[in-house]
Amino acid sequence: MKNIQEITKNKSKGSLSMVTCYDYSFAKIIAKTEIDMVLVGDSAAMVMHGYKNTIPATIEMMRVHVNAVSNGLEGKFLIADMPFLEHRKSKKKTMDSVDLLMKAGANAIKIEGGSKHTKTIQYIVDSGVPVMGHLGLTPQSVHSLGGWKLQGRTNEKAKQILDDAHKVQQAGAFSLVLEMIPASLSTQITKELNIPTIGIGAGPETSGQVLVLQDILGMNNNFNPTFLRKYMDSFSLIKNCLNQFNQDVKKGDFPNEKESF
Ligand code: KIV
Repeated sequence: MKNIQEITKNKSKGSLSMVTCYDYSFAKIIAKTEIDMVLVGDSAAMVMHGYKNTIPATIEMMRVHVNAVSNGLEGKFLIADMPFLEHRKSKKKTMDSVDLLMKAGANAIKIEGGSKHTKTIQYIVDSGVPVMGHLGLTPQSVHSLGGWKLQGRTNEKAKQILDDAHKVQQAGAFSLVLEMIPASLSTQITKELNIPTIGIGAGPETSGQVLVLQDILGMNNNFNPTFLRKYMDSFSLIKNCLNQFNQDVKKGDFPNEKESF
């Protein structure tokens, strides 16, 4: 397992890989890979529960997924997303949520947003809990951002994200996810910060890359954004497999003698 000290040393381009995971079965497979970090993202709300965005993710939903992943992960560094508004209600509510996610097996917490959340990040870090930041397209703010759009396109917006990146680092974050921003901006942020940056739709110069596991595996054939590389077409593979099973059952071919008692 890479620990926090080993992770923060990885500043050079492409030195860290991270995938999302939401369940025990996939966690057991990831445990046997060379992937560096695993994120139980609040994208669980979309990928596992079929919601249109991440806002319906609750602390209980996240706790259940973190617990399941942690049971299968065998020592990989596990980061849990703080769900929508959970760190905006009160300091006590924030810390109760951190407590739940850490006790469910997380090694660190991810918090979306910049300067408005630095006090919270600092408080959590001061409590001995590593925090990963998340800037650019922050899906929990999808309604204020006006949709799933590239962020930091104007000089003014880019400067705001750069300033936020410095503030998140100052607050004590150990790394920073940069989502859907121009490659030139993520290059500048990565150069200026001491902590590793992890990109998604942020070009090739970040310290690491993250993708949603089900996207890498091609499980959603209707989701084909520019930034995504699918490493297999598991939608078709799984569909064909299930049709084969259906045919075998209907033909009376399954179970055969060897598969029966
Ligand atoms: O929730 C999530 O999956 C994420 C990643 C896309 C970074 O935040």
